[in-house]
Amino acid sequence: MIKQKELPYPLDALEPYYNRETLDIHYNILYKGYIDNTNKTEEKLAKARETNHFENIKCLEKDLSFFGSGVILHELFFYNMGPAIPTSPDNELMEQIQKDFGSYDSFKQQFTESSKVVEASGWNLLVWVPDFHKLEILQCEKHQNLTLWGCIPLLVLDMWEHSYFLQYKTKRPEYINAFWNIVNWNEVNKRYKQIKK
Ligand SMILES: [Fe+2]
Repeated sequence: MIKQKELPYPLDALEPYYNRETLDIHYNILYKGYIDNTNKTEEKLAKARETNHFENIKCLEKDLSFFGSGVILHELFFYNMGPAIPTSPDNELMEQIQKDFGSYDSFKQQFTESSKVVEASGWNLLVWVPDFHKLEILQCEKHQNLTLWGCIPLLVLDMWEHSYFLQYKTKRPEYINAFWNIVNWNEVNKRYKQIKK
């Protein structure tokens, strides 16, 4: 059984960039739904193995990918945000960003632009690709499609409408610009250090 990870700040901590009502619904209802559905899917998979009934295996494994990836990305999202206290990539991460994107500004520009054009429901991600030994930015459809195998997400932005519509309506660019004020780079730096070990 997987459990809901604690929100590392109060529900109003990201105001005014990400309002309390949006975070409350996002964390307490939607993210919890992904946890519950992942656990239910695991139970159904265990039952299928016990009873040797694999008629629904295709659907169950697809559900595991969808709901489970929803859990993983939401946890990263809630943790890579924080109160609007200025933070920045540390020297190690900044050097890699400059190496792979030319400059921090180019990285930020690419991330902003690709977030704007994520199709339908999806995410935008800064990832480390061990096989390429470099950082990349990837758009993701739903929670699980369009990945590069083996990549490790470092910074993620939820581009599902449920993540911004209540506060920003159709103004995606305003939501993305607001996000930069509440990125907790300390958390991203920590993740980058862990994966480079
Ligand atoms: Fe979400």
